[in-house]
Amino acid sequence: MSASPVRASAVAVLATLAALGAVLLPAPAAQAAGRTVEGGRLDWGIKSSFQSYVTGPVAKGGFKLKNGAATAGGSLFRFHSASGSYDPDGGSLEASFSGGVTFQGHQKADGTYELDMSVSRPTVKIGGGSGTLYVDVSSKAKEGGAVTTASQVPFAKLNLGGVNMKGGTSPVALANVPATLTDQGAKAFAGYYAAGAQLDPVSLSVDVKAAAVEQPASPAASPSTPAGSPSPQAAGQFTDAAVDWGVRRTFREYVTGSIGQGAWKLADGAQDGGALFRFPQGKGAYDGAKGTLDAAFAGSVHFTGAHLDLKLAKITAKVENGKGVLSADVTTGTDTKPAVPLVEFDAKGLTAEGGLATLAEAPATLTEGGAQAFNSMYKAGTEMDPVSLAVALDGTAKLPALPNLGSTATPSAPSPPTAAQPAAPSSSNTGLYAALAIAVLVLAGGATFLTLRNRKNQAPHTAPTPTPAPNASAETPAPAAGAEAPAAPAAGTADSSDSPGPSGGDGAAPRG
Ligand code: HEM
Repeated sequence: MSASPVRASAVAVLATLAALGAVLLPAPAAQAAGRTVEGGRLDWGIKSSFQSYVTGPVAKGGFKLKNGAATAGGSLFRFHSASGSYDPDGGSLEASFSGGVTFQGHQKADGTYELDMSVSRPTVKIGGGSGTLYVDVSSKAKEGGAVTTASQVPFAKLNLGGVNMKGGTSPVALANVPATLTDQGAKAFAGYYAAGAQLDPVSLSVDVKAAAVEQPASPAASPSTPAGSPSPQAAGQFTDAAVDWGVRRTFREYVTGSIGQGAWKLADGAQDGGALFRFPQGKGAYDGAKGTLDAAFAGSVHFTGAHLDLKLAKITAKVENGKGVLSADVTTGTDTKPAVPLVEFDAKGLTAEGGLATLAEAPATLTEGGAQAFNSMYKAGTEMDPVSLAVALDGTAKLPALPNLGSTATPSAPSPPTAAQPAAPSSSNTGLYAALAIAVLVLAGGATFLTLRNRKNQAPHTAPTPTPAPNASAETPAPAAGAEAPAAPAAGTADSSDSPGPSGGDGAAPRG
């Protein structure tokens, strides 16, 4: 273990802090040649002026998150489940993330959108002092509406500004790396931005592990369906199942935002996947031939806040004739209504393969009963978060993993900012920024990184923000924030800072 990489990195950090605000959080040990990246997240707003335009009065649209992507405060989108490799000796990093975001605007009379663009699966490749961000991109042309899709195109150039990537240990993190649009990236924006246009800065934090060590089935591993002899359960019974449902993104943002000032609590086995809740341990019956499912799941989620007390428990899913219904016991205050149908979802995609029946992100709309559960602040028919189902039909099938945000992620809810707030780092960024602050302290005090990195890995404490959070500028109205939050289900008072919902004017009820 040599000290020199530490020094080099430390110098790089200091220089970069002053010059750019883009920082590698270095670490001392640099003995292994190659390491596996396993788990972690990338936070990026793509371009906040584009978000403002799409959600604003010109395009009157919104965005939708896909495959576990989340919002993370400010105008950040959070991509998850990093995989790839890191070479601490050479300083190269390749990390691919899951999740995507679709922007839609300029809706036509037929309900389709003239602006319809998706960015997903960002991959960061850094080597030899330069960096590139690749994405899967799909975009509709402004004239004619032809859709172009491309996989892993170089979308943004990352300006690392001399950050020394050598010698890092887990987690390897970069904060606020400036990014500019490439030629190919520019094509997705219908000619409105030229190559070289400034994009939002990119931050990431990934866990790295020694490549030599074979990881036993980790939580980040993709669902595997071993080829072992399947032993189907009798009479349509199954061994395990889970339903993933985030309720509604804007509702979660409202609960934890300045209006709700609340939180949610998961209990009885429910899990937090960042942008969704997982209700596990499903029991019931599945008939692949008929396409029917009747399942009851464990877990509950309890939302509390100003004038808000809503608990959903005993979630069940029923699928028949291509249609699904998600129901729950709904408790508001002391009043529990059992088995209330909350949302209906399109279940035509429920199919079985390799011992696993799945339905991925099926669009879901609120039922009448669901509308009542939300105190009629959303109308029946309002688009809610999509529903995903996974049913293990035999003992060897594994349910899909939850998004893996990496070791520095806090499991709790993001703290969505409001348009009025400066874009302070969200709670889930605290570790990252705390680490940055510590790096500065270390440099000032001349102590070793090792000692302090260990401290960093303990309780996250609120830290000053040595780098400005992305999109802190006054002209950026933080469109990803919960500005379209509904009024509190139990409240008569409501803030009217509503805007067309990112889900596309999806029928949030007028305020009471
Ligand atoms: C019906 C079709 C469209 C119309 C009428 C339209 C109109 C406009 C207008 C008026 C602006 C200027 C907004 C402002 O300055 O506030 C604008 C900006 C922009 N439009 Fe569109 N647009 C259309 C389709 C598209 C499509 C298909 C895309 C592809 C992604 C697109 C991407 C953009 C971008 C990137 C900007 C610049 C946003 C910014 O950063 O300020 N537009 N559009």
